Amino acid sequence: MIIQTQHLAMADVSEHSTELLVILAPAGQSGFASHPYPGNLAALIEHYKTMGDWHSESKHLLCINSPEYKASRILLVNTNSDIDTACANRISNVITNTLAQLNQTKAAILLPAWLQGADRLIHALFHASYQFTGYKTDSSQRQEIAVELLVSDDKLNDSLRYAQALHNGKCHTRDLANMPGNLCTPTYFAECAMALADRYATVSADVLDEAQLSALGMGAYLAVGRGSAEPSCMPVIRYVGSEPEVPAIWVIGKGITFDSGGITLKKPPGMQNMIYDMCGGASVIGLMAAVAELGLPINVTGVIATAENMPDGDAFRPGDILTTMSGQTVEIISTDAEGRLVLCDAITYANQHQPALIIDVATLTGAQIVSLGSHASGLMGNSPQLNQALQQAGDESGDRAWTMPVWSDYQDALDSPFADMRNAGSNSPGMITAGCYLARFAGNTPWAHLDIAGTSFQYGTGNSATGRPLPLLLQFLRNYSNLSAPQWSINTDACGFLP
Ligand code: BES
Ligand code: MN
Ligand code: ZN
Repeated sequence: MIIQTQHLAMADVSEHSTELLVILAPAGQSGFASHPYPGNLAALIEHYKTMGDWHSESKHLLCINSPEYKASRILLVNTNSDIDTACANRISNVITNTLAQLNQTKAAILLPAWLQGADRLIHALFHASYQFTGYKTDSSQRQEIAVELLVSDDKLNDSLRYAQALHNGKCHTRDLANMPGNLCTPTYFAECAMALADRYATVSADVLDEAQLSALGMGAYLAVGRGSAEPSCMPVIRYVGSEPEVPAIWVIGKGITFDSGGITLKKPPGMQNMIYDMCGGASVIGLMAAVAELGLPINVTGVIATAENMPDGDAFRPGDILTTMSGQTVEIISTDAEGRLVLCDAITYANQHQPALIIDVATLTGAQIVSLGSHASGLMGNSPQLNQALQQAGDESGDRAWTMPVWSDYQDALDSPFADMRNAGSNSPGMITAGCYLARFAGNTPWAHLDIAGTSFQYGTGNSATGRPLPLLLQFLRNYSNLSAPQWSINTDACGFLP
């Protein structure tokens, strides 16, 4: 979608030529009279109201012509005076569906000064405009929608810049996340990281190969990719937007490019969903691009914990005991609990680089889908303030997360008779057990974990990958860059474990 802004006094709107002029009509009986539009629009709406065609309360819309307007068609859409996420999505759907029905690609939306939350509408339009045509050979004629935003002041300039950067990042994330396992491999992630470094002067990237990961002692990380013909690697992407010595926020994404389960093989139905097991890694790529595009005055380091989880004669097995980079040992109960194995070593690596804080993002457990579904990501962490800041960023961006407990009570599920811990509990709440496992590697660093198994993709629904939790993460970083001296205290009981 191409979005352009045009400054236009309200009185001149009727002179504007477009295929579809979108007029947002305020809800409620009195609302419209107090926000007059040029021409006879108010009278026209009154007319339709008496005909019973226009019900402002029930969000009805009309597609009409008015001789006083140059626009070919006028679309009236009911709006709240402060647009929330649900309202934004509804208006955006109405506009895109109407354009599709009319077989048109051009619309102009009037954003009057009284309207609050116009930025949410812009985000929703951008989100809806994403198309993943997959790999169908006849999908060349992609119709690009062009939307003009008609504004009478400058107040939306910053919102637009932010929305554009978020949108570009989300498209990057969704394109990557939608790629299947044969095309998006760990090596491909490495190429994406290097491409980011080429594109932005503020970004640099290194890719650690298997030999380097082995030299660092990443026994858990490397075990996961051992049964795959694809070599594992760990791309590290640095964005420097502040003084170089200012501690960076580290964002680590799970990038399992295909999760067969390994020797603990998954059942066939739904196994194709596991091409999305790298949505966390794809979010890191999109996030770094968006942060660089906005030039946020902070330092951010992105890590993609990427490998392919496959069974073969060299694969790791249930019962194996692995030594992690932290020195802690892990007894493997299930080779299908592989995400935490790559993540724990990536967290230890981050911890050795004086991070300001660590956030990991992962399609980690089926239990997250059972607990929270596709509405909220599961949020766990060792710092109440950090949890709160992330949950708030989720609320603000309409990309919600909900804080789950990782009390010490839950840690017992990871007891192993032979090693320091096991990699999966039995009959324990799986999302929380996974959070408890990761907490053991965060040490004294403020750390949070987002389980995005249910929020980052919806297989088979049009565009599948959603781009979440990019809106939450970018909002968090935007809020963070406005904080003068953020304090994140560690709560030992909330985290349950301090080595
Ligand atoms: N990648 C899966 C989790 C997943 C499931 C993501 C469905 C998206 C949709 C993860 O690696 C996994 O297999 N987790 C296991 C953990 C268990 C063995 C402790 C799970 O959730 O069943
Ligand atoms: Mn798995
Ligand atoms: Zn997985």
